[in-house]
Amino acid sequence: MKLLDTLNWRYATKKMNGTEISKEKVENILEAIRLSASSFGLQPYKIIVVKNKEIRKELQVAAFNQTQITDASHLLVFAAYTGITEQHAEDFVQLHARVKNVSADSLSSLKNMLIDRIVPRGDEANFNWAARQAYIALGTGLIAAAAEEVDATPMEGFVPDEFDRILGLKEKGLKSVVLLALGYRDAANDYLVNVPKVRQDSKDLFIFVD
Ligand SMILES: Cc1cc2nc3c(=O)[nH]c(=O)nc-3n(C[C@H](O)[C@H](O)[C@H](O)COP(=O)(O)O)c2cc1C
Repeated sequence: MKLLDTLNWRYATKKMNGTEISKEKVENILEAIRLSASSFGLQPYKIIVVKNKEIRKELQVAAFNQTQITDASHLLVFAAYTGITEQHAEDFVQLHARVKNVSADSLSSLKNMLIDRIVPRGDEANFNWAARQAYIALGTGLIAAAAEEVDATPMEGFVPDEFDRILGLKEKGLKSVVLLALGYRDAANDYLVNVPKVRQDSKDLFIFVD
């Protein structure tokens, strides 16, 4: 299975070499992320694609000086909604109506379901839920990058409040949850490049119920 070769090829790159990724490859990775599954298809997050080097230098300080932040070609910041509001439900229904070419009125049960079941759970529960959806998009991006033979590092080692301040996310009702640095490995200087994958054996990881 070719996908397994791809997954064995990828690794969380520690040292990137600053080479820029082609526009086409970036677009393919972003399109895969756009197609990622999410609960109800709500996509309760945004992905900030940071190419600007000065801003990445600022972000690096808030990411324990990890070098991938500035040596990557692009830094993706996955930011989840801090709450789910009636406006999100309204926007979601409008999107469905446009894509499916139906009236928004015909989708009132979808809208009411979000308003009656999701919004009342409260901001904390909905933020945590939105963050979980963002992680699914992260996983999709990780695999898509490998499929494009682009190296990637998923990263939680950063200070979300600082990222939110630098990128103005709070004002947008967002909070950063995880990063994906995209670029190319500096094979000569990355101590992880030839390290074997450490994973649990299948017999320990999977519990089969036959
Ligand atoms: C959610 C998440 C957060 C991570 N945070 C960091 C990080 O901040 N810095 C880093 O160098 N690697 C980070 N990693 C990489 C992991 O250490 C790495 O994926 C794991 O050791 C498995 O190795 P592999 O991805 O190379 O197969 C993170 C991985 C994930 C999935």
